[in-house]
Parts: sequence; C-alpha cells; structure tokens
Amino acid sequence: MTPESKTGLSTEYFDRAVRITPGGVHSPVRAFKGVGGTPIFFRSAQGGTMTSVDGREYIDFCQSFGPLILGHRDPDVSEAVREAIDTAWSFGACEPYSLELAEWITSRLPWVEMLRFVSSGTEAVMSALRVARAATNRNRILKFEGCYHGHSDSLLVKAGSGLAGEAASSSAGVSNQVASDTLVAPLDDENAVREVFNRHGKEIAAVILEPLPANYGLLIQRREFIDEVIKLARANGALVVFDEVISGFRVALGGMAEVLGIRPDLVTYGKVIGGGFPVAAYGGRKDLMELVAPVGPVYQAGTLSANPVGMRAGLATLQKVERVNAYAHLEERTANFCDELKARLKEQGLPFRVTLTASIFWLHSTTDQPMRRIQQIPSQNADAFAKIFHAALDRGIYLSPSGYEVNFVSLAHSDELLERAGKAILEAAALAVP
Ligand SMILES: Cc1ncc(COP(=O)(O)O)c(C=O)c1O
Repeated sequence: MTPESKTGLSTEYFDRAVRITPGGVHSPVRAFKGVGGTPIFFRSAQGGTMTSVDGREYIDFCQSFGPLILGHRDPDVSEAVREAIDTAWSFGACEPYSLELAEWITSRLPWVEMLRFVSSGTEAVMSALRVARAATNRNRILKFEGCYHGHSDSLLVKAGSGLAGEAASSSAGVSNQVASDTLVAPLDDENAVREVFNRHGKEIAAVILEPLPANYGLLIQRREFIDEVIKLARANGALVVFDEVISGFRVALGGMAEVLGIRPDLVTYGKVIGGGFPVAAYGGRKDLMELVAPVGPVYQAGTLSANPVGMRAGLATLQKVERVNAYAHLEERTANFCDELKARLKEQGLPFRVTLTASIFWLHSTTDQPMRRIQQIPSQNADAFAKIFHAALDRGIYLSPSGYEVNFVSLAHSDELLERAGKAILEAAALAVP
C-alpha cells in the first residue's frame, strides 16, 4: 500500500471539512495540530480497534478520550442501546431509566447523596461551581494549573503574572472580569496554595481539583498535597469539588474519591458514566444539591439531559464493569503492557517513558524526576511525541493525538492486541529518535 492509499479518502474528507467547520473538526485536538499532518477519518470501530474510511485498521488507545472502558461497541451496551432505540430516544419528561442509573450510582458511592444528569463534563463542572457559589455566598473558585475542567468561561484561565493566584483569561472571548473570579495555583506546591488562601481565603467558594490530573499529561499528585489542599479549603470555609470526569468509574468504580478515601462536597462525572454517549453528572451532599432548581434557587436545565439512550448505555456499561470485576483486569493488563514497554524503551536507550495509573497511560519524553507540575514536562516533549505518534500511526496504532493527552486501555484490548501494539510502539520509538 502506498502512503496515499492508506489515507487518501481521509485527506479528501478533511479538505471538505476545513471549508465548513473551523479547522475541519468539532473539538480542537482532533485536528492533529499538536502532532501535525492530516487527521484520519474513521468509519467504524469494534473492541480495541477502529477502521478508517480508507479501510485501514488501527489499534485505538484514544478510546474517544476515555468513555469507552469496555471498548467500542461492547455487545451488552449495544443491546441496551438497541432496546432504548426500540422504546424511545427522548421524552423531555420523567422516565425510569435515569432513575435506575441514579439509584445505581447513589447506592454505591456514598458521597453522591443526590445527583443531576447533564450532557457534558463542561456542563457538570459549570453547574457544580454555580451550586458552590450559591451555597457559600462567595464568588471565587480556586483551580490548579494544568487541570482542565471543560470550556466554560470562568475555567478558561491561566496563571496570571501578578499576585498569588490571580488569573488571566486563556481564551479570546472570555472577559477578564469573568476570569478574575477564578484563582490559579500550581500543582504540587502546598506553600503556593497556602499563600492563595492567606490572601483570598474568605472569597473562595470552592477548590476544584482533578484528583488525578490527566489533561496535561498524567501529573500524579502526592497524597500529602491533596490532603493539604482539602485541609486549607475546609479551614477557610471553601467547598471541595472533585472533577472526576476522567477518573470517575475509570480508576475505580468510585474514582479517586474511593482510591483516596476522601469525601468531596461535590463531584463531577462524565465520559465512562455514559458508556460513549453524551452523559455527565454532578452530585454530592444532599444539602448542596437541594439548592438546585426546582427545589432551590440555583437554575440549571437541559433539553436532552438524562437522555434515555445514554442512561441505558451508561447503566449497561457500569453494570458490566462491576459484574466482570473490570478494574482488576484492566489494571493488570495495563501494568503488564506498560511495564514491558518501559523496560524495552530503557534497555534500548530510547528517549521515551511511560507513566500510568490504572488503565490510563501517558507516553512522554524521558525525564529524571516524576512529573507533578506542568513546568516539569520536558520542553522537547511535544516534538518528540509528534514523531513517535506518526511512526506509530504508520504501524496501525492510534494514540491520542497530542503529547499532552493520555491514552486509555479498555477491556477489549486483549493481551494479543497489546502485545502487537507494544512491538509497534517500540519500533516507532526507535524511528522517532532525533
Ligand atoms: C477532568 C475534565 N473535566 C471536564 C471535562 C469536560 O468534559 P466535556 O468534554 O464532556 O465537556 C473534561 C474533558 O476532557 C475533563 O477531562
């Protein structure tokens, strides 16, 4: 096969798409800007693989950026979706399917006393923070550098250059007024967080944290840091919001709250909760969630919220994950795959390493130290990743298309598939050496 014939139709589609959609995509990372080249268009997917419009099969480690913990088109989820389609796909009225999923979750995750379904992680976070502001009568939110919480205005901010915590907008179109409601602190730095609280403690409604930061590489935090953040929040009357859009139902059924044994006041979920359909949720303490309309004064609504197809796909996914003890299998499989890859990379003196937690892994440039802050990521990482990404793509491996995105192993990634992928990534690493 010539290179053209592997991607000819994708290129054609992309040329058409860029004329009528910004960058040819409906979410920026899909455009391959971080790795260069033309994105692949996919026509179908099954298990651990996706097939391009040009008929080429790829082992998929992007997995829709996390929702597909069982892999593409798991048969049990597929059956639940078919049943849903044959019953009704939207009511805009009360139905039992969201009740079943809500009961399933609240009966297992004690910190989720009540929840509300929405359609995206962005909405979940935005709504949870609105509740936090209403509950505390305070306006400001503290977030951490390198954590992503969706694209609502007040969260598109970066650390400012001035006083502790002050932020600036990180997107055109976000007013500095809105950005100034958010404070930003570095990860892994208790002193910096303490300083922000010293200066702004009485203004902060909530601290929002990805307890497993996985949106700027995989920046695994020290337990002491997380404990100190929570202690400072509590001492200053700020609520603790865990953003578990990636980690929830992924690293354990109860996400990082379960792993750490920490009870957040509010929590947000997305991705796995809907099994690949547009479902997310926010929830937590009953007294806080009762502030939400129509019971309380915090307005939040959605035409397609708790969509019955998504509700049934989510429930089928979570039930299966629990039934087959997915976390133990995923963890073992991912560790075997990554440990082998790490060992070979090191043995062959190749300048890449793998950082992992549960079934999430990040392929990155070599460093001597654990990376816990964005500044610790080697400056050559983006360029080095672009090389390995394309060499892997040529070998039929689809990694998440940015050096700052993590990858996901699903239950459908068999040992055989992982062995093949490991060999291909190793070959790609050898070709990606500068
Ligand atoms: C931790 C976290 N929060 C929020 C979001 C936003 O979710 P969505 O893309 O569904 O709006 C994401 C998306 O990747 C995320 O990783």
